[in-house]
Amino acid sequence: MKKILTVLFSSLLLILLSDYSFAAKASYEGYKKCGGCHKSQKDSWLETKHANAFENLKPNKEAEAKKKAKLDPKKDYTSDEKCVGCHVTGYKQTKGYSERMSKTAAKYYTGVGCEECHGPGSLYRKDHRSASRKFKNTKEASQRSPLLKKGQVLEFEEECNRCHMNYEGSPWKNAKEPYTPFTPDIDKKYKFDYEKAVKESGKDKAMHEHFKLRGVFTGKPVSKFREEFQKGAKEPAEPEEDEGDEGDGGDEEGGGEDGE
Ligand code: HEC
Ligand code: HEC
Ligand code: HEC
Ligand code: HEC
Repeated sequence: MKKILTVLFSSLLLILLSDYSFAAKASYEGYKKCGGCHKSQKDSWLETKHANAFENLKPNKEAEAKKKAKLDPKKDYTSDEKCVGCHVTGYKQTKGYSERMSKTAAKYYTGVGCEECHGPGSLYRKDHRSASRKFKNTKEASQRSPLLKKGQVLEFEEECNRCHMNYEGSPWKNAKEPYTPFTPDIDKKYKFDYEKAVKESGKDKAMHEHFKLRGVFTGKPVSKFREEFQKGAKEPAEPEEDEGDEGDGGDEEGGGEDGE
């Protein structure tokens, strides 16, 4: 009897635990959802090298760079497991990029999308919506810190490192295969300096431009360059998406309008 009870109890515990982790784990959504509300960042991001990163896995793209890195410029690397992860959004993660996705869906996951830097968005984007409503109705800001538990990233350096510092012999302690073939040994332009990359990358079009925030979120933590970037920020365009949209699939139609 005791044994049965123990078994019952531990399986109950297991169910509770797995249910908990299921509820707490954010999944990927693709850039369309974010872009519906953050149209200006989306339009700016679409012009960046990050948005275009998947293209360069195709044959004959960036042939010189590939040769220098001892890759075959004629080869199609778009389904090579050693490459894809750093050139798409949410590879091998829940609801992230997968080759089995439809072409229409994949369009929102190819390239280094919003969620590769800001974190998988299925949970925190709902908080963005409710905080936005509260702000509209009451002018009251919401605390920023609960966003972290929902998977939003506010310190970006480690996110960048996952791709930019992940090479053989890297000083970054978490480096592991598959590595990027483009190391500072091949060309020193591949050396990664977070602060420089975030601030000066407007020039080489890697990062999106910055737009004014109304202050819907408040309190610590604040991302590192917030104040500095907000000083020069432009006014954002009005959101495309109705911020009141509750549905998860309801905004799927009209999928063709914001393509490359
Ligand atoms: C329903 C609309 C909506 C969606 C969808 C949405 N956001 Fe937001 N987001 C907002 C609003 C509103 C704010 C507050 C803006 C302000 O303060 O002016 C915000 C704030 C932010 C901020 C700034 C947070 C801070 O520290 O103040 C970031 C970064 C952000 N969103 C990224 C994203 C990303 C990435 C996605 C997709 C996963 C996303 N958002 C989806 C409406 C949305
Ligand atoms: C660990 C992440 C990672 C992996 C794995 C990876 N890449 Fe990349 N790739 C990057 C990063 C980061 C850059 C940008 C480097 C820079 O310009 O500083 C890049 C840049 C590139 C470029 C452009 C180079 C240039 O000079 O313009 C090509 C082409 C490319 N990768 C192809 C590949 C191929 C093919 C593979 C597989 C054999 C691969 N990548 C695997 C992260 C990765
Ligand atoms: C998922 C992997 C990934 C993440 C995360 C990532 N990058 Fe990149 N980054 C790339 C790839 C791949 C390229 C090359 C795109 C291309 O040219 O095809 C690139 C290109 C760049 C470039 C342009 C380099 C050049 O040679 O012109 C800069 C700058 C850059 N990234 C900065 C950052 C910063 C800053 C972060 C973090 C806030 C970041 N990246 C996060 C993969 C990533
Ligand atoms: C390569 C990494 C990267 C990608 C991809 C990226 N962002 Fe950002 N984003 C940043 C960084 C870095 C900041 C500013 C950090 C700081 O203030 O220190 C930022 C800031 C923001 C902000 C705050 C307001 C502003 O304009 O500065 C919003 C909103 C935002 N991003 C939305 C998006 C959306 C939507 C996408 C996709 C369409 C996206 N981001 C793609 C790195 C990225």
